[in-house]
Amino acid sequence: MRDFTNKAIWSDDAKTTKFPRLDTDLVVDVAIVGGGITGITAAHYLAKAGLDVAVLEAMQVGFGTTGSSTGNLYATIDKQLHTIESKHNTQTMEAVATSRREAMEFIAQRVEEFQLDCDFQRVPFYFYAESPGENLTEIVNEREAARKCGLGSSGDIPADFPFPAIGMSNTPNQAQFNALKYVQEFARKIKSAHCHIFEDTKVLKVEDGEPCIVRTSGGTITARKVIIATHSPKGIYAIQTAMEAHREFGVAAKINGVLPTPGIYWHMQKSSHYSIRPYARDGENFVMAIGESFKVGTEENTEWRIQKIKDYLSQRFDVASIDYIWAAQNYKPADGLPFIGRSHGERNTYIATGFAGDGLVYGTLAAKIISDEIVGKPNQWAKIYSPTRFTPLASAEKVVSAAMNVASNFVKDYLFYSDVKAMQDIQPGEGKTIKIHGERLAGYRDEEGTLHLVSAVCPHMGCIVHWNHAETSWDCPCHGSRFGTDGKVLEGPAYHDLARPK
Ligand code: FES
Repeated sequence: MRDFTNKAIWSDDAKTTKFPRLDTDLVVDVAIVGGGITGITAAHYLAKAGLDVAVLEAMQVGFGTTGSSTGNLYATIDKQLHTIESKHNTQTMEAVATSRREAMEFIAQRVEEFQLDCDFQRVPFYFYAESPGENLTEIVNEREAARKCGLGSSGDIPADFPFPAIGMSNTPNQAQFNALKYVQEFARKIKSAHCHIFEDTKVLKVEDGEPCIVRTSGGTITARKVIIATHSPKGIYAIQTAMEAHREFGVAAKINGVLPTPGIYWHMQKSSHYSIRPYARDGENFVMAIGESFKVGTEENTEWRIQKIKDYLSQRFDVASIDYIWAAQNYKPADGLPFIGRSHGERNTYIATGFAGDGLVYGTLAAKIISDEIVGKPNQWAKIYSPTRFTPLASAEKVVSAAMNVASNFVKDYLFYSDVKAMQDIQPGEGKTIKIHGERLAGYRDEEGTLHLVSAVCPHMGCIVHWNHAETSWDCPCHGSRFGTDGKVLEGPAYHDLARPK
């Protein structure tokens, strides 16, 4: 899709951080893989506790999932609090809301303490419906659940509410900021002789042990502890079988006329919701909408989803131009709770994943829980989010073989679909999986007519990658690894690129 900018609105606000690339071996107390909100916040906690820390970011600090988010901070959750009550119990639901509220306040305190220039402001959070056919019952349930958790939610529809709402859960005192500016500013403030931050440093392997060894593109780090703060952890972990990888789109439109009052607007439509956020910059008014979630690697053409969001904005605002279109990934855990801490079989490696669409607050909370465990401080929230609540199969071999079963199903189904296509049939701008002399390949023809061939077998656990036309990438439906047309890994649990054809 030609107008897919793949650039979140925040990218034009951010200053360039430019931390150095790692070019030597290093010994530290804690190595942190990933320089998003989780990694940078954990670095802050641990350095403050007197530990030597190294953050390893493959690209640039904050430019991954953190910089693709809406920048909304709230104590409730994407799937709504009442679903936690029904899947678990009232106590767990209250713990989720309270722990998230604490994490949100931590962010507010750091903005104050470090004078972080990140447009932080307190705003209300609105779940709302516009017609009786939408999820009114959900809204009432959520309002009651939020009240039970002490969030002070009401059904009041403000007089200046910019949409024709007929049902509402209005939660005061939530917040918004520019997540990319926050993380970059925070990183700059905490960098010291004991807190190293490296960019353009790709982690190639993490070996758990005493000590742990982290092999990177620029040197080897020896560390007592490792935190994998990369969303889904790199490598093979049991909890990857208990999460689904989803992508959703963000569209930011420049509008004419008055900007709606600042707030977190979640429109609960029949089958999904859109998160809408007004944003002003340099005298220009923007409204962004994020939504149209779909499972990674299961839809080849998603342009209609982007168009749906654009139409949605045009129907509600006087749109002058569509300036940004981007996509972001999240991992939804089966039981609705993220996985934070040490997983089964790991001695000194910690993970933080399964945040669904709530990663800014959960990432901050994860940083605190894991840092407390590392410095030997009790944390009252550690137990409910512990990865060990998920009972894995008895051994890593069984996890791999279960995943391979999933993989073989995808192989069977997908080749049946793609075998009918010959290599010559691939048109400029198109990608197809093909089988040549028994080898399963992913072929993309660029606009100049050159065919780019890589292996279609995901190096994580062997599923077959699927073509993503809107984003021009090869996406794996099993655990969400994504690759460029040159085979280079873009995100997800795969460490390695798609192989070259034999
Ligand atoms: Fe796990 Fe591809 S097999 S991400």
